[in-house]
Amino acid sequence: MSLITDTHSRRADTDAPLIPILIERWSPRGYDAAAVIDEATLMTVLEAARWAPSASNMQPARFIVARRGSEAFNTIHANLMGFNQTWADSASVLIANVAELAIDKTADELKENPWARYDLGQAVAHLTIQAQHEGLHTHQLGGFDAAALATAFGLTDNQVIVTITALGVLGDASALSPALLEREVAPRTRKPLSELLLVND
Ligand SMILES: Cc1cc2nc3c(=O)[nH]c(=O)nc-3n(C[C@H](O)[C@H](O)[C@H](O)COP(=O)(O)O)c2cc1C
Repeated sequence: MSLITDTHSRRADTDAPLIPILIERWSPRGYDAAAVIDEATLMTVLEAARWAPSASNMQPARFIVARRGSEAFNTIHANLMGFNQTWADSASVLIANVAELAIDKTADELKENPWARYDLGQAVAHLTIQAQHEGLHTHQLGGFDAAALATAFGLTDNQVIVTITALGVLGDASALSPALLEREVAPRTRKPLSELLLVND
């Protein structure tokens, strides 16, 4: 499916010039189900998340990293919702993105970190861009059973799975269902920048 395997066909049509990685990033659902990401590259991608900025350098982001074929991968996949299950099994790695909502001040006192989810998102954004740089693709997922996964992985009340990231190698999208294939090739659109700028003084 040349339309899909050519990543450039999904390049963002930007109104202002961006760095190439940002133009080329998109969220595919057609991954190569045989592709294995080498460990060094996977660590590089995770290292990008580690070096993201965070409020007071509190570093609330945690990750459950599940390689395809592992028990953890099967657990995450089993708890994806709806159509996410039909494509995400082809990703090389599923990563559950966890925010620690409070920091341990002392053994018995937790202090809320109001920026925990923000900082997790920022860490995932860095991971995403590093992955793109490595020739990989990512697709973030909000459709999953967070409570079931928290139980399955023994998370504390302070640890919440905010999103899942599918990480993998772009594959032949013709294996996708017609409905997903349609989404895979649909034009990529954005609101106009003017709508985003509440004040542009
Ligand atoms: C927090 C979040 C949750 C998302 N949840 C899903 C999801 O459950 N299933 C899915 O197929 N895509 C999901 N997406 C992907 C978005 O639909 C996608 O990023 C958006 O349409 C823009 O497309 P692009 O990433 O290719 O630019 C999610 C993205 C984010 C950031």
